[in-house]
Amino acid sequence: MHDPLVYLNGAMTPLSEAKIPVLDRGFIFGDGIYEVIPIYQRKLFRAEHHMARLFRSLASIGITNPHTRDEWMALIGQVISAHPADDQMVYLHITRGVAKRAHAFPKDITPTVFIMTNPIVLPSAAARKDGVACVSMEDKRWLRCEIKSISLLGNVLAAQNAVENDAVESIQFRDGFLTEASSSNVWIVKDGEVMGPPKDNLILEGIRYGLIEELCAAGGLTFLARRITREEVFAADEVLLTSATKEVLAVSTIDGKPVGKGVPGPIYATLYAAYQQAKAA
Ligand code: PDD
Repeated sequence: MHDPLVYLNGAMTPLSEAKIPVLDRGFIFGDGIYEVIPIYQRKLFRAEHHMARLFRSLASIGITNPHTRDEWMALIGQVISAHPADDQMVYLHITRGVAKRAHAFPKDITPTVFIMTNPIVLPSAAARKDGVACVSMEDKRWLRCEIKSISLLGNVLAAQNAVENDAVESIQFRDGFLTEASSSNVWIVKDGEVMGPPKDNLILEGIRYGLIEELCAAGGLTFLARRITREEVFAADEVLLTSATKEVLAVSTIDGKPVGKGVPGPIYATLYAAYQQAKAA
């Protein structure tokens, strides 16, 4: 098996040899944050947006940022260079660090920093052509979904729910309103308008959130951020998913019911093409 070099706490090491102490608060409490950045042709896509979110995530849980922006870029660069693939997906994981188990923040603790990369796995040609099946479920996660937390049990259960129902994603609703999927943001299209839930504590603001806004503006499409009911999702002309690895992906069915005509629609085609252009720019 390929054993890529990863970065852990100051050193590059083969993945198979990278170890953390069992008292790491990431292991004990899920006390940390992460970031996933797509790399095309060895260049970070939307680097500044990902860096800004990384810094926000650290600040939001009171972890002192251990590196400057330039240091982070150099560390990520090292990991990318060590991997043979040109298109990758870099994963950054920062925990509060290692300490005797006690819930509140320990004093004088050094964050654990881990960076790995893998070849990026993009949706298949069939998923692009036909769209993907999704299922709906109640959003039972906590109320700080805006934090890119490594505590992902709610998302793990939502992803498993999708797999067990032969679907690619679980589209979640809280109190009858759309939030997001287990690891993607969700958008609806109605009468040519693109709509997504507001940027609040109920969803993670994906890096593609701002990109969708930009691509809509550039393409002359109306974009609205507002609360979206379950009924609106089921009555939408198109439903789209976005994430670092899905890019923009059309949803063909939800709970077995076709979305619009049940095939990827024209707004999907426009946004997907615009996304590919943005990547190549
Ligand atoms: N997930 N919402 C959730 C809950 C997510 O986990 C993700 C991304 C997104 C989309 O964010 P972005 O556009 O920045 O990828 C929305 C990543 C890819 C993951 O956990 O692997």
